[in-house]
Amino acid sequence: MGQPTPASHHDDWWRSAVIYQVYVRSFADGDGDGTGDLAGVRARLPYLADLGVDALWFTPWYLSPMKDGGYDVADYGAIDPAFGTLAEAEKLIAEALQLGIRTIVDIVPNHVSDQHPWFRSALRGGPEQELFHFRAGRGAGGELPPNGWRSQFGGPAWTRLADGSWYLHLFAPEQPDLDWSHPAVRREHEDILRFWLERGVAGVRIDSAALLVKDPRLPDFLEGRDPHPYVDRDELHDIYRSWRAIADEYGAVFVGEVWLPDSERFARYLRPDELHTAFNFSFMTCPWDAERLRRSVDETLAEHAPVGAPATWVLCNHDVTRTVTRYGRTDTGFDFATKAFGTPADLALGTRRARAAALLSLALPGAVYVYQGEELGLPEAEIPLDRIQDPMHFRSGGTDPGRDGCRVPLPWTAGAPHAGFGGEPWLPQPDGWPAYAADRQAADPHSMLSLYREAIRLRPAFGDGPLTWLPARDGVLAFRRGAGICLVNLGDTPADLPAPSELLLTSGPLPTDGRLPKDTAVWLRA
Ligand code: GLC
Repeated sequence: MGQPTPASHHDDWWRSAVIYQVYVRSFADGDGDGTGDLAGVRARLPYLADLGVDALWFTPWYLSPMKDGGYDVADYGAIDPAFGTLAEAEKLIAEALQLGIRTIVDIVPNHVSDQHPWFRSALRGGPEQELFHFRAGRGAGGELPPNGWRSQFGGPAWTRLADGSWYLHLFAPEQPDLDWSHPAVRREHEDILRFWLERGVAGVRIDSAALLVKDPRLPDFLEGRDPHPYVDRDELHDIYRSWRAIADEYGAVFVGEVWLPDSERFARYLRPDELHTAFNFSFMTCPWDAERLRRSVDETLAEHAPVGAPATWVLCNHDVTRTVTRYGRTDTGFDFATKAFGTPADLALGTRRARAAALLSLALPGAVYVYQGEELGLPEAEIPLDRIQDPMHFRSGGTDPGRDGCRVPLPWTAGAPHAGFGGEPWLPQPDGWPAYAADRQAADPHSMLSLYREAIRLRPAFGDGPLTWLPARDGVLAFRRGAGICLVNLGDTPADLPAPSELLLTSGPLPTDGRLPKDTAVWLRA
């Protein structure tokens, strides 16, 4: 394992893959302690093979105090004991591969846990201080933070220590930011990449990929002044070019978490000697609106074309509101800034749309990400206040519900305790969760799970090559790829289907008049 072979350099599976995101803590609990683990994933590999996915992206599974669900890493060379052991991870990677499923690990280069040996030593005054951003405060007694930067989770991006100095954290205080101008930080991450590539992983997701580099002067952010002091700095590209050289030795691929509104700046990360792919957040946050979705698809394809990178299509992940809930609301887009408790949602409507959106995204050219539970049509859960764990909730002063609502442990078996997840789940499952259980859905040809399975199975036969829009009236998306035609009706009235064509798959029942109802998608063969 890990030996680069000439063939692996030419293997472009990732250009059109279906990649399933495993949030380990909530996937399946193998040892009955209420926390998902690697044993749980290994036991469910046949389920993932039946679903037909090409690869699994595991959110961080490393040793972590879990102050941010594992995005606070204390040691990249160890699996958190709540999840299992390194030997088990190696087994999981190998067993998945035997089923034709590749593994993608998640690397979090912007910050480490405050329990990471580097930061602990820095706190004791060790030379590792240079690897972080420690600064004196402003004000007469240094009582004001060094600058006005805000944490992405709310509140100041600085925390003051007992000795009076401050350190930078763009996320929670337990996630101190690394100083990427230091060569030891770069070396360490190259070693981490090799560590996991040697273990046979096929890809790496890069967390917060556009935030690593800071303006060394740490100036305040002024609206409209370029460049930004810590978002999308030009120096990042040099880092990713050196990473790419390492990935190429192993035939491995990157997917970057790059949230940038400017499509030209976004595409720079996808130049041929940098990252292979990046998540498509403009599509993920787009409202259920034909014109807006079409524009998002067009912009996506246009921004990727010049750099030759494939697009990705994402409907949700572990950070955002689950699709069936979002599409059932008045505001069907997603924005962290407007998340609120108690937003009403029509789940039947949201589910119809989520089914149609699944066929839409699986028909588009590029790679598709499926977040665990999306294939079960799980709604966003409202977590009781006293059970919320996400730092985003606490750092918002309690106004933001946080991200736990999309992280609830999965229902596997309708009749079993805790819907077959395992032990008493670390986050409570809402009433009604067993109705979404995988075993029940597997037996129902009209379930969300059956739709996903069927769509992933048919996807290679659906059509290939570039997308061509077909003429369609307002509110209808219609496009063709080879012989495959996809139609999605987001309008208020039924739409005509092109004739003659063979029906491959529909997201919902078609009436006998053969017209396409609203909030429904079809795949046809011309
Ligand atoms: C990314 C992750 C998110 C995490 C943050 C800090 O946005 O997706 O879950 O909280 O980075 O690592």
